[in-house]
Amino acid sequence: MKIAVFSSKSYDKQTLNNENTALGLASELSLEFFESRLSEETAVLTNGFDAVSCFVNDKLDESVLQVLKENGIKAIALRCAGYNNVDLDCAHAMGIHVYNVPDYSPDSVAEHALALIMALNRKTHRAHYRVKEGNFSLEGLMGFNVSSKTVGCIGTGRIGKAFVKIMRGFGCRVICYDAYPSEEVSAWGCEYLELDALYAQSDIISLHCPLTPETKHLINASSLNKMKDGVMIINTSRGALVNAQEAIDALYSGKIGYLGLDVYEQEGELFFEDMSGTIIQDSVFQLMLTFPNVLVTGHQGYFTDVALSHIAQTTLQNLHAHFADIDCKTEL
Ligand code: NAI
Repeated sequence: MKIAVFSSKSYDKQTLNNENTALGLASELSLEFFESRLSEETAVLTNGFDAVSCFVNDKLDESVLQVLKENGIKAIALRCAGYNNVDLDCAHAMGIHVYNVPDYSPDSVAEHALALIMALNRKTHRAHYRVKEGNFSLEGLMGFNVSSKTVGCIGTGRIGKAFVKIMRGFGCRVICYDAYPSEEVSAWGCEYLELDALYAQSDIISLHCPLTPETKHLINASSLNKMKDGVMIINTSRGALVNAQEAIDALYSGKIGYLGLDVYEQEGELFFEDMSGTIIQDSVFQLMLTFPNVLVTGHQGYFTDVALSHIAQTTLQNLHAHFADIDCKTEL
């Protein structure tokens, strides 16, 4: 079977090829790598393939799916957990099967959320540059003890649970909101509250819910108004959970005291590419980077050795199961 692997970087090629050999699937699954994203412009490249493998910013809307269907693509193996970039109803109606990697390493993303919290709190990103220039002044670098804080976790699925465990380990009071509360999380001593109560009580709010029509711009002027002054907002889930312009207004007013983002609503135009030699045309993003209390990383929450291996293994096993007609729990 011929698989067109889109949005593939050197590390994707390496891990997918290694795991394909290790799993003994190399004679069954022939991988061809395309650096470009899957889009209306590149969908034509799928001609002659049996399946595609895609990542978070590949576009799988109706027009792209139509080209895939015409080219005989039978399966889409996502190399990620989130699938908000796929028109699932449309894919199903066209008879194209879609698989994801739901559980590759929740700890990777939860630990990155912690990295953002601690860097923003202790201002290590700023301290690093000071010390490099021989400036050992501590003015402006004061942090706070995380252990005394109340942490609000929105979404207590796989990553949310890993995050809750970490913050409980710090000794924080952890309060949660989820459409489907988990008894396991309650048993760890965490209280589920309504969103407004979570907003009102949290010093730090970390987002671990998926992007859906209900969660789009969950963090906006109205929800921010319900929060404590100086709240820390951490988003490692999907960019569109935060209304960036309204977050900027709240940074100006001091309502948001710290903002840590691993994802950004318009990241498709920027992330995963070296843009250092170009003029970035997104003025909202550029403005956000000027705040000393904002820390942005380029969707690297998942990016650890363990996670990459698991992503490659599950992606290949999904494709194998599809073509061998084996029931697969990761089918969406
Ligand atoms: P999951 O499906 O295990 O958990 C999501 C949780 O959110 C579930 O408990 C669900 O009930 C809850 N939820 C659904 N709608 C909600 C709502 N309206 N309000 C509150 N909670 C709601 O997903 P997992 O694996 O924990 O991933 C969470 C998100 O993290 C993904 O959807 C993805 O967007 C993001 N992600 C980011 C990565 C990165 O590299 N930064 C990597 C992997 C995932």
